[in-house]
This record gives sequence, C-alpha cells and structure tokens, in this order.
Amino acid sequence: MRILTGLQPSGNLHIGNYFGAMRQLLELQQKGETFLFIADYHALTTGPKADDLRSNVYHLALDFLSCGLSLDNTVFFRQSDVPQVTELMWILNNITTVGFLERAHSYKDKIAKGFTPNTGLFTYPVLMAADILLYGSELVPVGKDQKQHLEITRDLAIRFNNDYEETFKIPEAYIPTSVAVVPGIDGQKMSKSYGNTIPLFGAQKAIRKIVMSIVTDSTPMEAPKDPEKCNVVALYKLVATPEEVEEMKANYRAGNYGYGHAKQAFFEKLWAYFEPMRERRAQLEKDPDYIWDVLREGGKKASAEAEKTMDRVRRAVGLR
Ligand code: ADP
Ligand code: TRP
Repeated sequence: MRILTGLQPSGNLHIGNYFGAMRQLLELQQKGETFLFIADYHALTTGPKADDLRSNVYHLALDFLSCGLSLDNTVFFRQSDVPQVTELMWILNNITTVGFLERAHSYKDKIAKGFTPNTGLFTYPVLMAADILLYGSELVPVGKDQKQHLEITRDLAIRFNNDYEETFKIPEAYIPTSVAVVPGIDGQKMSKSYGNTIPLFGAQKAIRKIVMSIVTDSTPMEAPKDPEKCNVVALYKLVATPEEVEEMKANYRAGNYGYGHAKQAFFEKLWAYFEPMRERRAQLEKDPDYIWDVLREGGKKASAEAEKTMDRVRRAVGLR
C-alpha cells in the first residue's frame, strides 16, 4: 500500500500537531511505503519571504527527523524538487471547472476573512490532486479540514480516467477519528492561529513559563477541584501513564493540591517525554547539510516515480 501526505512548512510545530497528527503518521509509516513531502509550492500561496520559507522547510524536516521519522521505507522530500507536479497540475487544470473550485471550503473561508485570493490559492486543490496522483497514492492521511480536497482529488482522477484512459489510482483519505483535540493553554483548540500553543521544541525556561500560564479557574489551593474541567489534566493525559493521571485526579478531588502543583507535574512529564527527540535534534542540528541531503535524495526518488506517471499522462492526453 502506498501512503502519501504533504505537510505545510508554516512555522514551529506545537504539541497539538505532534499528538494530533505527527504521532499517527509515524505509526502509519510502518504499514506501507510512505511518501512524505514538504509542500513548499503550496506555501507560496500565502507569500512568505524567501528566507522564511527556506527556514520553515529546514525546520520542519529537522523536527520530523528528530521525532523518529524513519527513512527505511519512506521517501521524504520537498515538493518543489519534483517540478513534474506543476506539469500535472496544468494538465488537470483543463479538466477542472472554475465553479468546482469556487465551492472549495478552504478557498471560501479565506475569501470570507477578507483575503484577496491569488490564482495559486484558487487552484491549490488541483496542485494537491497532482501531488497525490503523481505517485499512485492509495492512502492519504490528513486532518479533517482537508477532506474536501481529497474528494476533489478523487473526482479529478475519475474524470481523467474517463476522459482519456485509465491512468490514476483513486486514493482514499485516512482521517483518524480517535484523535482527541489537544487544548491550548487557554482551553480552546491548540492552534498557531490562536497563539495558545505549547511548542514541541524550545528552551526549558520558555516552555515552563508557557506551561505555568495555562488558564485555570480560581478555586483556592485547599479546596477540592474537578479534574474533568481542568486544561492541565487534559494535557497531562497526553504525557503521563493512566495510573499517574488517576493519581493527579485523586489529588484534585482531595484538595490541598493547587493548580501550580499540577502544572509543575505536567511540565516535568512533558519535558521528559520529548527528551529523546530533543537529544536527536541537538545532534542533527550540528549538520544542516545532512537535512538538505536527505531531502535532495528523497527528491531524486520521488522524481523518478513521478516521471513514470507523467510519461503515461503525456501520452494519454496527446503530448507525446
Ligand atoms: P494549526 O491549527 O496550529 O495551524 P495545522 O492546521 O497546521 O495546525 O495542523 C497540522 C496538523 O496538526 C493537522 O493534521 C491537524 O489536524 C493537527 N492539529 C493541529 N492542532 C491540533 C490540535 N489542537 N489537536 C489535535 N490535532 C491538531
Ligand atoms: N493542504 C495540506 C495541508 O494544508 C498539505 C498538502 C499539500 C497535502 N499537498 C498534499 C496533504 C497532498 C496531503 C496530500 O495540510
């Protein structure tokens, strides 16, 4: 089974990304040949500065490798190292009606927020379809916000196969439903757009400060507290064993246990949880060329695969 997914390089990862997406992806890696790429062409739709884009790509690759991405059966690459994807996109553009793209939620949401859309943003789903179809992907793990993009991809693949000849596999979305939403320090969903995140990597002091600022109610130290209503407990569950969680809940109910104690306990577990990743990251950071080499090598493999598909596509549409 071929698994593929793309990741937007858009700044520092937070623990919501780790527990909500990355961890599942690292597990899924064991189930089949995985193509994992950093969607730098897609990132251009929001107009990042060149240095920021490069730095975001580098850091995303660094973070994934630090968290245990195995290169044994995974092709890890930069989208833009396979320019055939833009060629396929152009071909797919011609079987995509404007009305179809106008119905995309992500596009409509951006417009509703007052964004002046560029054409890249409009055709974003077609580039995404090209990403998926180029490598014969069968399973595409994504967050639920990407569900419609997968439907668009399937639709375009079917249309192409009908209009020309049987060329593309029809991919399935894989949207893990068992994953709980990780709360941010203010109790809303953790998200970089809400400024309520706990970063995956960072200085100990800075992360401790963020943990200590998790919002709680003002029940006094001595009074019993309801563990089910507390953000600290919800976060603690991610990094502690079930027994440790039960112990914290008992402390809440008994009283004489303040939110400060709970935050400190969470911070210690959190710090220990990511210790091996931090160590690997410190090692990897010593040699930035290694990160770029990994991506370049992945790009070569992906490109060879892409070329096979493009050969069939070009013939099917009459370009060869
Ligand atoms: P953000 O909301 O910070 O912009 P993204 O939309 O870039 O995060 O999400 C990247 C991946 O991480 C997606 O698959 C998304 O479902 C997952 N993710 C992000 N935030 C959370 C969260 N708070 N809880 C669970 N999963 C999350
Ligand atoms: N649009 C996806 C996101 O924002 C990233 C992405 C680009 C992607 N191309 C893809 C995901 C292909 C899966 C498959 O998360």
